[in-house]
Amino acid sequence: MYKKVALLGAAGGIGQSLALSLKLHLPEHTELSLYDIAPVTPGIAVDLSHIPTHVKVTGYAGDDLAPALENADLVIISAGVARKPGMTRADLFNTNASIVYNLVEKAAQVCPNACIAIITNPVNTLIPIAAEVLKKAGVYDKRKLFGITTLDVVRAKTFVAEAKNENVKYVSVPVIGGHSATTILPLLSQATLNGLKLEFSQEEIEHLTHRIQNAGTEVVEAKAGGGSATLSMAEAGARFSIGVVRALLGEDIIRYAYVDSSDDPRYTKFFAYPIRFGCHGVEEILPIGSLSEYEQKQLEQLIPILNDEIELGENFKINS
Ligand SMILES: NC(=O)c1ccc[n+]([C@@H]2O[C@H](COP(=O)([O-])OP(=O)(O)OC[C@H]3O[C@@H](n4cnc5c(N)ncnc54)[C@H](O)[C@@H]3O)[C@@H](O)[C@H]2O)c1
Repeated sequence: MYKKVALLGAAGGIGQSLALSLKLHLPEHTELSLYDIAPVTPGIAVDLSHIPTHVKVTGYAGDDLAPALENADLVIISAGVARKPGMTRADLFNTNASIVYNLVEKAAQVCPNACIAIITNPVNTLIPIAAEVLKKAGVYDKRKLFGITTLDVVRAKTFVAEAKNENVKYVSVPVIGGHSATTILPLLSQATLNGLKLEFSQEEIEHLTHRIQNAGTEVVEAKAGGGSATLSMAEAGARFSIGVVRALLGEDIIRYAYVDSSDDPRYTKFFAYPIRFGCHGVEEILPIGSLSEYEQKQLEQLIPILNDEIELGENFKINS
């Protein structure tokens, strides 16, 4: 078996670092193709190709992205514009919705069976847009479309380990919901250290929940106009994408992601869950366990917000 990963937006802040991680860490029997409208992209591929790993890298720029997509098994999209201070993820909507719409439309033509993983924000709204584009093209398979929320999981793990002064390697924190502000719901009542439940005061829970939900803004403000999270996102994107590729190659892999969950009427049509991935993409949406009273209240509050963000995507019309 051989798997090809196409990264669209590869010359950007996230794209370049993610391309490096993929070149270094994709499993054997894989190939990486890079695409960006930026003319430097073939050069980025040449640069990476000098690193001695088994992953073959090619790069494409300009209007025709078909060669980058041909025979792709996983298409990762980080193309778009990033936040500046004072902007919310929703402020990126108009520009990024059209970019993602066009890229997914092309992927539907060139590699209709590929999995598509979207990093570009606002994830909560762009995944429903991508689903509509794929439905229109007659190739929608909800097992194969994911919004990447791994950065929320990575941040939750880091911040909880810091707060508890514990080794981050052994800390695990589920994060469900969506990928914007209060739609990000860390389940601190299920956080563990080495598999054992961690205890938090109510003050710690409120502080950590707020920090995890606003961590993206922490980076945007610290970068003072220089963009949003790129390095941590690239690492999170690599953890997610490499997991998906390993699943496509036959392993059982668990990752969190924002997916079509319209079969589960408890929450919203799209929702981030723990997921078991396999050779067709999403094999099983795993249970989220029992929530504390505080988390249950947060969940009830986020559902109408997420529903509005999903509806915006479902009603999006290109060039409107
Ligand atoms: N999911 C997450 O957790 C998360 C975290 C951080 C950032 N993001 C989002 O990721 C996106 C990218 O962020 P960045 O910091 O890399 O931005 P960036 O501006 O550094 O890079 C974006 C790249 O997209 C390219 N691009 C634009 N239009 C394109 C098109 N039509 N086809 C191909 N490439 C195109 C640009 O040329 C640029 O190289 C933003 O939308 C940002 O909000 C998501």
